[in-house]
Amino acid sequence: MRKGILTIAVVGLLTTGGLTACGDDSGSGPADSAKTPKIGVILPDSKSSARWETADRRFLEEAFKTAGVQYDIQNAQNDKTAFQTIADQMITSGVTALMIVNLDSGTGKAVLDKAKSQGVATIDYDRLTLGGSAQYYVSFDNETVGKLQGEGLVKCLTDQGAKNPVVAYLNGSPTDNNATLFKNGYDSVLKPKFDAKEYVKGPEDAVPAWDNAQAATIFEQQLTKASGKIDGVLAANDGLGNAAISILKKNKLNGKVPVTGQDASTEGLQNILLGDQCMTVYKAVREEAKAASDLAIALAKGEKKETGQTVKDPEGGRDVPSVLLTPKAIYKENIKDVIADGYVTKEEVCAGTYAKLCADAGIS
Ligand code: BGC
Repeated sequence: MRKGILTIAVVGLLTTGGLTACGDDSGSGPADSAKTPKIGVILPDSKSSARWETADRRFLEEAFKTAGVQYDIQNAQNDKTAFQTIADQMITSGVTALMIVNLDSGTGKAVLDKAKSQGVATIDYDRLTLGGSAQYYVSFDNETVGKLQGEGLVKCLTDQGAKNPVVAYLNGSPTDNNATLFKNGYDSVLKPKFDAKEYVKGPEDAVPAWDNAQAATIFEQQLTKASGKIDGVLAANDGLGNAAISILKKNKLNGKVPVTGQDASTEGLQNILLGDQCMTVYKAVREEAKAASDLAIALAKGEKKETGQTVKDPEGGRDVPSVLLTPKAIYKENIKDVIADGYVTKEEVCAGTYAKLCADAGIS
């Protein structure tokens, strides 16, 4: 009996609160079709690359704050169930647009389809969801990312005067469409060299979920399999590159075997300064975040923005309206460009023992 009265009282309070809130923001009345933008973002994890928490979160916040829109950025920490729960909560909380970096295309598609069925606008951020239904795809030209890595490795092997070098591959996650595109890019440079017997194809493995710790184990096995004869490592990002470097160090081979990377992380840039890493690929995440934010806001207002470009989803066969930005190769000489762009700070990169190496690399 008592419980019943209490319940009614609580419901009464909630109703009153709800009505008050509604009256406050409905100045233009229910006929107004444009929604007040509220953007939900689901980042994939914080371990496969430092970028998601140090760059993407920061630049997305910057873009949303500048545009004066409400937002909610969460990280699924590589947990597919959590990914779906976060999406459900965001949809229930009334987001007008959902931006996802999928953990795989299956769960990505489920989330996108559900959002769509509830009238929530959707954007594939950085990774295309194969067979998915996102209204836009915002990323970089990922085949070019891979091409820059392949060219970088060739440049570093040439600089070292390597003859018939054995090249090992540490590919990204098999469930990430970007990993496929990166590989297409570096294969386009390196396969002709293998075919011409100029280079020798060494061991190749994909690293599940881009797991850096697992990458070290995998690379150690590769090195054993190749009897210690690996002359160059095509690592798909800085985290995988650092894993390979840690094993090369154990074998006193660091600095002798060029390793590639991607993301211009502080660690990757420091490995380049040390001479342990050959190059990285810088992707201006600030521009990626701004492009995605602009599209999400336009969608909330019921506007249709032309992107002038589409990407074919190889699984769904759809031409997805896309924004693809241009990546840039980074060597010791132009690390300063990444700092000048505000992606990392000189204080981080040039801390402690790196100060002298920074000065030598012209970072002032
Ligand atoms: C991103 C890379 C990142 C990797 C691991 C890819 O989809 O494009 O920038 O290093 O995922 O998180």
